[in-house]
Amino acid sequence: MSTTKPAAASFSADLLAWYDAGHRDLPWRAAPGSRADPYHVMLSEIMLQQTVVATVIPYFHAFLARWPDVQALAAAGREDIMRAWAGLGYYARARRLHEAAQKIAFDRGGVFPDDEAGWRALPGIGPYTAAAMAAIGFARRAVVVDGNVERVVARLFAVAEPLPAVKPHLRDLAAGLTPAARPGDYAQAMMDLGATICTPRRPRCQLCPVAHHCAAAGAKAADYPRRAPRAARPERRGEAYVLTRPDGAVLLEARPQRGLLGGMTGFPLAGFDDTRPVLPQGVTWQAVPGEVRHVFTHFRLTLQVMRGSVAAPAAMAPHQTWALPQALGEAALPSLMRKILAHAINQTGART
Ligand code: ADE
Repeated sequence: MSTTKPAAASFSADLLAWYDAGHRDLPWRAAPGSRADPYHVMLSEIMLQQTVVATVIPYFHAFLARWPDVQALAAAGREDIMRAWAGLGYYARARRLHEAAQKIAFDRGGVFPDDEAGWRALPGIGPYTAAAMAAIGFARRAVVVDGNVERVVARLFAVAEPLPAVKPHLRDLAAGLTPAARPGDYAQAMMDLGATICTPRRPRCQLCPVAHHCAAAGAKAADYPRRAPRAARPERRGEAYVLTRPDGAVLLEARPQRGLLGGMTGFPLAGFDDTRPVLPQGVTWQAVPGEVRHVFTHFRLTLQVMRGSVAAPAAMAPHQTWALPQALGEAALPSLMRKILAHAINQTGART
């Protein structure tokens, strides 16, 4: 099937009519046809990469309450931003958000880029975010393609070739459908369609406003997009070190900016990459029974938790601190670190 121009026009008209009739009311959205605040769009789009809407909403509100505009975010301390991001995952996004805010606030006098190329020139802004910013924030025609859009397009055209190799073709097909009018609403309508109707496993084709344009509508829809068999996620093993002081405080450290959980706080980890933690000498480490498992995008991690204690406050490296149990909430630990803490407490019955 090939979609010709008139079909593309009636596709976007049908999709937008559906969006106008009942789009999701999300806090970063403007009323259909009007322009959203670019700072709100930037914040939400970076948070929404790889994360579902329901998870993002409370973080979006918390960031806006604390840093109401791009100048405030640019002037914030990196550590505060990382702490506020804790639990949202993919922590490099927080660093990229901060760097982009600093460029806009400090180098561009607070003026947001208003087209795709301008956004691409900012640090850490990739093709998806640049297109979403141009379309949603500045009403520019831009081809906004995320995983939802790829799935919708693969079904509309019953594309037989598998992902990921077919991505450029799906993008071309998406481009052929993208209208010049109301590009922001169109982009968000495609996302809403993918999130609520054209879902990965059980698409609701009976409710779909564009089923009559779709080559895969009905029983076949869930067969698309086709995927090349995924390589199994590699397994990595390592250790986590939970060191306690007599007053119950535990040793935490700031992780390097780059790499796994970059810039986040947590227990010293070792063994699965080429970083080595700095630990006090002379500690007798005991293996906590059982293991902690965590799945990252690129590998599965299994950690042996080691527990130890020091009698007196040991000398520490500059990137390390002691945190009392009551302060651990404020330390805003990522999920892996929370699992390690829970495991150390549950398996030894000891208080930290
Ligand atoms: N996913 C990414 N951006 C989105 C948006 N603006 N609305 C809904 N879902 C999204």
